[in-house]
Amino acid sequence: MGVKALGYVIVESAQPARWDHFMTQLVGAMRAPDAADGALQFRIDQRPFRFRIESGSRDHFTAAGYEVADAAALAALADAVAKAGRPVEQGSAAAAALRGVTAFFKTSDPAGNGLEFYHGDSVADTQFVSPLGVPEFITGDMGLGHAVFSVPNFDECVAFYQNVVGFHPTDMPRFYFGGGGPDDPGMGFAFMHADNGRHHSIALGEGPVPPSGAVHVMVELPSLLEVGKAHDRMKALGYPESATLGQHFNDETVGFYVQTPGGFDLEVGCDSLVIDPANWQVTKHVGISQWGHEWAWQKAMKEAQMNAAAE
Ligand SMILES: [Fe+2]
Repeated sequence: MGVKALGYVIVESAQPARWDHFMTQLVGAMRAPDAADGALQFRIDQRPFRFRIESGSRDHFTAAGYEVADAAALAALADAVAKAGRPVEQGSAAAAALRGVTAFFKTSDPAGNGLEFYHGDSVADTQFVSPLGVPEFITGDMGLGHAVFSVPNFDECVAFYQNVVGFHPTDMPRFYFGGGGPDDPGMGFAFMHADNGRHHSIALGEGPVPPSGAVHVMVELPSLLEVGKAHDRMKALGYPESATLGQHFNDETVGFYVQTPGGFDLEVGCDSLVIDPANWQVTKHVGISQWGHEWAWQKAMKEAQMNAAAE
């Protein structure tokens, strides 16, 4: 059992036009023809879509869709997920066609975060061309990028992703945002890889599930030049910056976070560490960022303190 890569994400939106603007004007994704059911589809490579935006009554992350090897692997995974007590809803042939996959099922993790698993992927019959001239996104065997969820039942969810789904631990730290004193229990984090070189295809943070249904999704650009240009576009278009430019310790990604129209963040980065999944020794980093990544809430707190001191 094992997961090949993150294939796609599905988002429900009450304002799909805002997603179109965000994806085509900031990210540089290519708008593909709408799906047969009217959903918006955005490409970042040869896959027919990587982001599927379904019109709905709310803005909410619906599911991260992960690919497995074949029909047997998918059937075994559905069995294991059901045995673990999670709901398994087999996708219809029509729903599979909408996703460009051979077969899939829907489920959720023990915190309720939406997941789909599929086998049999497809490629578009036209070339990927970014409307903004982004030369490429780093995908291929490493998939779309990664998804990050927040889970209150942290240990249970880590066990689910590792023992039931088949992700592998990459970096399993505990971060002490409150100084690490006796009153600070710390927050568990789990960065887990699929059967490819991406440092993590899924990550979990210990905490409540946010109203948006996800913490963030990450896409990888080919260079710092492209990240800088995307950062400029975010500023010029007025999208809220969730974290300033910075570099992570664990996957070495240099990038920034911007709030999507769905309420969760998109991490736009480059130069991510590629691991050898077969020989990886699990790490336990002590911090999130080597430099930068000032979060919007940290900035707001600092400004409030400075204003109070000035009065
Ligand atoms: Fe990330």
